[in-house]
Amino acid sequence: MNIMSESNEPSRKITVMKDGPYVVSGRVPLVKENIVSEGGISIGWEKMEEHPERKTYALCRCGQTGTPPYCNGSHASAGFNGTETADRAPFSKRCKVLEGPSLTLYDRQDICARTGHCQQRTGAWTLVKHSDEADKREEAIGVVNSCPSGRLVVRDKETGEALEMPLEKEIAVIQHPHRGVSGPLWVRGGISIVSADGEQYETRNRVTLCRCGASKVKPFCDGSHINVGFRDGSLGKK
Ligand code: FES
Repeated sequence: MNIMSESNEPSRKITVMKDGPYVVSGRVPLVKENIVSEGGISIGWEKMEEHPERKTYALCRCGQTGTPPYCNGSHASAGFNGTETADRAPFSKRCKVLEGPSLTLYDRQDICARTGHCQQRTGAWTLVKHSDEADKREEAIGVVNSCPSGRLVVRDKETGEALEMPLEKEIAVIQHPHRGVSGPLWVRGGISIVSADGEQYETRNRVTLCRCGASKVKPFCDGSHINVGFRDGSLGKK
């Protein structure tokens, strides 16, 4: 298990445009992934498609595009207000802490994408509480790392090491079939995200960016796509 490595590809970057799209530069791979579920519980991910490689591209942030996941300029006619309202304090300053016997769980609820992966097994919180048992500890680490939003982070209690599974630098366009909605953009591997005012967000191994336009913590997803029943072209119209 490794701590997320420092970026050695500084050109891979996402820039939030004022009331517009995400401009992605540095040949960041773009894939489509579906949430896999069993009995109503999200248990994993399935890669469905790889989008053609592009040096630079713009991804829709307003939810109105006719060419998902790419921007087609609809934000202008829709009068999209993309004001970035996310709390910019570092993750560690805004999370609740749950101490288990061998693991510490950090939980920041405002950026939860509500994919439900944390409910696997007996749930991340219960698993951490029983992390003195080797199998529960491993399950807790796996469950936490399947959370795309980075709401949950687990650290070894003794060493303080963040137990993050290494992820390739890429973006996954999420679909959530068993909820009948399209989800956010899962940004993996520590890609830099720069706000429209030029400030860089904390670089993290796992974050999700809103692409429905309804989040209250833009540019991050807060699960509002479920409330508004967001469906892009891949899921068809209701
Ligand atoms: S995509 Fe999740 S809140 Fe917009």
